[in-house]
Amino acid sequence: MAHWLSLARAAKLVGVHRSRLQQMVAAGELASREGQVSTTELLRAFPGSIPEHTGDLERVTRIKEEAFGRRVRERMLPSQEILAQRLFAQGQELADTRRHLQRYHVLLEELLRRLAEHQDTSPASRELADWAESEFARALALDAPDRLEVLDTVLELMSAHVTVRPSGREFFVEGHDSLLQAGLKSGLGFAYGCGNGTCGLCKARVLSGEVRRIHAHDYPLSEAERTQGHVLMCCYAPVSDVQIETLEAAGPADIPEQTIVTQIRAVTPLADDTLLLHLQTPRSSRLRFLAGQSASLGTALANGADVHGTYPIASCPCDDRNIQFHVGRDEQDSLATALFAGALKARDNITLTGPTGRFVLDPTRGRPLVFAACDLGFASVKSLVEYALSADAAASMTILWLATRPDGHYLDNQCRAWVDSLDGFAFTARQHDDPAAGAAQLVESWASGARPADCDVFIAGPAPFVNAATQAFRAASVPETHLLTETLIRSQTAV
Ligand code: FES
Repeated sequence: MAHWLSLARAAKLVGVHRSRLQQMVAAGELASREGQVSTTELLRAFPGSIPEHTGDLERVTRIKEEAFGRRVRERMLPSQEILAQRLFAQGQELADTRRHLQRYHVLLEELLRRLAEHQDTSPASRELADWAESEFARALALDAPDRLEVLDTVLELMSAHVTVRPSGREFFVEGHDSLLQAGLKSGLGFAYGCGNGTCGLCKARVLSGEVRRIHAHDYPLSEAERTQGHVLMCCYAPVSDVQIETLEAAGPADIPEQTIVTQIRAVTPLADDTLLLHLQTPRSSRLRFLAGQSASLGTALANGADVHGTYPIASCPCDDRNIQFHVGRDEQDSLATALFAGALKARDNITLTGPTGRFVLDPTRGRPLVFAACDLGFASVKSLVEYALSADAAASMTILWLATRPDGHYLDNQCRAWVDSLDGFAFTARQHDDPAAGAAQLVESWASGARPADCDVFIAGPAPFVNAATQAFRAASVPETHLLTETLIRSQTAV
């Protein structure tokens, strides 16, 4: 008998993006019923997907982890307590099923016995007895197991499925993650602050399913809140599949400005004129931001001089403690000058204020994504791509990157790694001294697998590039409402 799965769970089992399954359902290539697909149908559509062929999922997960610079040691297994509770629940279910089966078995045997007792010589009576005997034998015969169903049972042990109301977005919680950590990794814009049970901002109501506290918290939940099922998402993990009710950021206006004293973790050259600045926030004060936004940085040097600059954030909001920036050499930028001169080093403090900017992605639109960047415009694009991957926001992504100097493609190896490892990912690199002429050529080289009118396009770079690329995409029939731009002043400072 077929086992029915939600699209999110089915996608996880066969190792593809959920958006791909949605497209297949819409195209009539995959039958679904009330938003669910059967394991039989899934095996028909993905015959080679189990169990050893789930490498795609592993690869995507690995790429995500590498991309976010995270070392996830206990990615899959939940804590012993949660695993024990899940095993107990499955054991109970198994015991119930066994008990029912035994009762049915006894009942059917009795039925057969009574049929035999009352059997007469009529053909109808003989036919009924034969039919009952053969059907009983057939029911007792062991069919080959539904391997996807078996895998799904294992998946239920390793991870819990969370549905968020009212948005309807879904994610899985694996390993030792809290609801908050897993939600952020999956690109959800939950409200939160400290991440350690102090501020109370991550409050959510559990509508169904069971959760367990995994960290103690100082924030006092009132008796009424407890009774209504409120928990702090940073301190709780699901034991079973759960539904929670909480609000998510709908856009930049929902993210408050924050000021955080961060510490430099590393300053690393990416190219002759480009540095990677890696900042880390304190554990109790993480930066809440949306991919594609910017932040202002400032500090005082040892000689007392104040230096500052504003830059697009180059990392994913799913790693809210490790904030990265790509800083270009620029004499008019005092912070960049200090960094290139070696006047700031690891463990020095930098005050971060932000986030700002509206160059953000709505993961619910689900359109093919195109990113066009010039030089350091790639910083925002990197953040958006990593976020789109974590949020499973699009089935296909294209990066078009123009460099106006020889070492301008300072992270092309990262882009090639995405192309090698992800389905539906394309990357084109072009070199041109003139950003406007280069933009036109770059967009011309764009061979979209999707209809341009269906794509969402993000353009980031200096004004001449942004203007020329915008015109070129319009000419290629990308609707005005699908175009989002970020103009950089000088080499990197965002407006
Ligand atoms: S984020 Fe502060 S209590 Fe959860």
